[in-house]
Amino acid sequence: MERITQTLSILTEADKESADEPRVLEDELAVGKKRLYIESYGCQMNFSDSEIVASVMRNAGFATTASADDADVIFLNTCAIRDNAEQKVRNRLKQLNILKKRKPELLVGMLGCMAERLKAKLLEEEKMVDIVAGPDAYRDIPKLVEEAESGQKAVNVFLSREETYADISPIRLNSNGVTAFISIMRGCDNMCSFCVVPYTRGRERSRDAHSIVREARDLSAAGYKEVTLLGQNVDSYKWTSEDGLENVNFAQLLERVALVDPDLRIRFSTSHPKDITDEVLHTMAKYDNICKYIHLPAQSGNDRILKLMNRTYDRAWYIQKIDRIRAILGEDCGISHDMISGFCSETEEEHQDTLSLLEYVRYDYGYMFAYSERPGTPAAKKYADDVPYEVKLRRLNEIIALQRELSLERNQRHIGQVQRVLIEGFSKRSDDFLCGRNDHNKMVVFPKGDYQKGQYVNVLVTDCTAATLRGVTV
Ligand code: SAH
Ligand code: SF4
Ligand code: F3S
Repeated sequence: MERITQTLSILTEADKESADEPRVLEDELAVGKKRLYIESYGCQMNFSDSEIVASVMRNAGFATTASADDADVIFLNTCAIRDNAEQKVRNRLKQLNILKKRKPELLVGMLGCMAERLKAKLLEEEKMVDIVAGPDAYRDIPKLVEEAESGQKAVNVFLSREETYADISPIRLNSNGVTAFISIMRGCDNMCSFCVVPYTRGRERSRDAHSIVREARDLSAAGYKEVTLLGQNVDSYKWTSEDGLENVNFAQLLERVALVDPDLRIRFSTSHPKDITDEVLHTMAKYDNICKYIHLPAQSGNDRILKLMNRTYDRAWYIQKIDRIRAILGEDCGISHDMISGFCSETEEEHQDTLSLLEYVRYDYGYMFAYSERPGTPAAKKYADDVPYEVKLRRLNEIIALQRELSLERNQRHIGQVQRVLIEGFSKRSDDFLCGRNDHNKMVVFPKGDYQKGQYVNVLVTDCTAATLRGVTV
C-alpha cells in the first residue's frame, strides 16, 4: 500500500495502472474561459496523452480545472487492458451522471483505449456520453467538442499509421516539476494473444528523434531533472528521416537524450525481452545519467504458455537476457516484471514455472495480474478462458507473496550503501521527510534537512521495507 500511495503522487515508472487510481488535471486561472476537467486511467502512455489533449484544448481556448464540479467539459481518458479497468470507468460515469442531471449543458467525452475498443457502441451503452475519441484523434478534439456543443454526438476513432503528435508540446499535468514523460512511439505490432493494445492503439510508429531530443532539452531548461521515454515496446524504436539518410534505433536515441545534460536522468519503459539488445545495455552502462533499471515483462515462466501468449521468446531466451543485464550492468541493476496468472489452460506445474522464474531472476519489483479475457483478441478467439477465477486469484497471490519476499531481500542489499537520490518531494507520510528515487528506481525516504525537490543528494541507507528504503543524507 505504501508503495502505491507514494507512487501515485509522483508519476514514475513504478506508477503503472497497477496503482489503479485515476489522475486529474490541476487548476488554472481562467476568467471567462470554458473549463476542462480530465481524469486519466491506465498506463503512463495515457497520462502522457492527457497532456497532449490538454495542450490541444488550451489552444482551443479552454482552461483546465481540478474539479469536475466546475467543468464545462469532462474527459475520461480510459483504459481497456482488463475488464476491471473498464468497469471502473463505467462506475465513474454513473457518478458523473448526477452532475450532468444538475447541469445539462455539461459535455462528457470518452477518450483512450476503451473509447477505441467500443467505438460508437459506447454512445448506445452510455447515454450520457457526448464525445468518443480514440488515441489517434486528439487533434480533432476541439472540432468534436464544437459538434457536441451543437447537440450532436461526436465520434472519431480513426487509427493512424503516422500520428505521433511530435509537434505538440504537452502541458505537464500534476507535475512535480522534477520528473516528466516523453512519448517516443505509439501503437504496438506485437500481437501478444491476450492483449487488446494492438487494437486500441493501432500500428507501431516511432516519433521523430529530433523532436524527442528537443523535448528533453526544453524540459531540462525548464528545470526538470528526469525524463522517462515511453512506448509499449521501446526497444523496437526505429526512426528514419524523410530523406532516408538518418536512421536512429533505441540505443542511439538513448545516447542522444543522455547527452542533453549529464544532470538529466533518463529512464525508459517498456522493454520487450525479444527486442532489448546488448547495444542498449552497453549504452546504459556508458552513461551515468541513464538509470540502471529495466522493466522487462515476462508474463509467464513456462514455455508452452509463452507460446500460447505469442510472446515469441521462451524461458531460456528470457533468462539469457537477464544474464546479459547482470553481466553488463551488474548485480544491482533494478529489474521488474509483469506476470499474468491463470492464462488459458495454465496447469499447476506451469504456474510453478512462473514462481521458479521469479526465484531465478530475483526481481526488485513486479506488476502482477489475473488473466482477464478481452473480446476480439486472439486468445479470446482461439482458447478457452478455463482457469477458474479462484484459481487465478490463488496463483496471483502466490506470485505476489513471493515477489514481496524478493523485493525485501533486494532492498536489504542496499542497507549500508550510499545511494544517489533525486528528490521528488515530501514523503507521503510526513512533511518532515523527503523522498526520491535511487538509480534503480527504488523510493528512498530521509529527514528533510535543508534539501529541496529537484536536488540530488547522497543518502546512506539504514533500513528498508519491501517497498521503501530509509536513510540519512551524508
Ligand atoms: N507493452 C507492454 C505491456 C503493456 S500492458 C509489454 O509488452 O510488456 C501491461 C501489462 O498488462 C502487460 O504486461 C500484461 O502483464 C498485463 N495484461 C495485458 N493484457 C492483459 C489481460 N488480458 N489480462 C491480464 N493482464 C493483462
Ligand atoms: Fe500488448 Fe504485447 Fe504489445 Fe505489450 S507487446 S502492448 S503485451 S501486444
Ligand atoms: Fe490501458 Fe491503453 Fe495503456 S489499454 S494500459 S491505457 S495502452
